[in-house]
Amino acid sequence: MKINKAIFAGSSTRVSGRPKPKLPEFAFIGRSNVGKSSLINMLTGRSSLAKTSSTPGKTRLVNHFLINDRWYLVDLPGYGFAKMSNEERRELSDTINDYLDNSGELALLFVLVDSRHEIQRNDLEFIATLGRDSIPFAIIYTKCDKMGPEALKRQIEANEKILLEDWEELPPVFASSASSGAGREEILSFIDTVLNNL
Ligand code: GTP
Ligand code: MG
Repeated sequence: MKINKAIFAGSSTRVSGRPKPKLPEFAFIGRSNVGKSSLINMLTGRSSLAKTSSTPGKTRLVNHFLINDRWYLVDLPGYGFAKMSNEERRELSDTINDYLDNSGELALLFVLVDSRHEIQRNDLEFIATLGRDSIPFAIIYTKCDKMGPEALKRQIEANEKILLEDWEELPPVFASSASSGAGREEILSFIDTVLNNL
């Protein structure tokens, strides 16, 4: 799929405040600093569409980006960021949960996992809630430029073993790098297939 047009459509903290019109949404979630906003910029080819930062906890709102006037990429706040007051953490988790519970337009959720480490307990807990709520998802490993091909393969296989302890089948899996652009074609063509099957 070619992205001809990508525009920021609006920010909200609750689904009731999201931009119109209603169109299919592909949302990105994962631990804070995993590279959600960077991946959105890489996929759209617009380097500063979504705000990125080396400091975790950058994205606090639900940001909608309208793609080709036909669907949205949605940048969600990260989970699992320790350096936050309880109140801030509660508000972020309310924002995320409201989106997951009430976004009738969510076509698919991409859960981003850092390719450099074993999948973390809070990733597994989060993925378990998706199973309970029957939310369709795929996993994208990020920052693959930091890994050699063999180490990447080993890490993904180790994570698959861990996931298979709880899941009968594995979700679709992609490896990406916002720096090199790796994974771009695969992820966009997967989105295209999902859109064509809605
Ligand atoms: P929050 O909004 O805070 O939850 O973070 P985020 O998941 O949106 O992460 P963001 O895209 O802001 O990136 C966090 C840091 O990781 C930044 O310093 C990025 O430059 C870096 N980063 C993101 N993706 C990649 C990647 O593929 N490779 C490398 N080497 N660095 C990356
Ligand atoms: Mg972000």
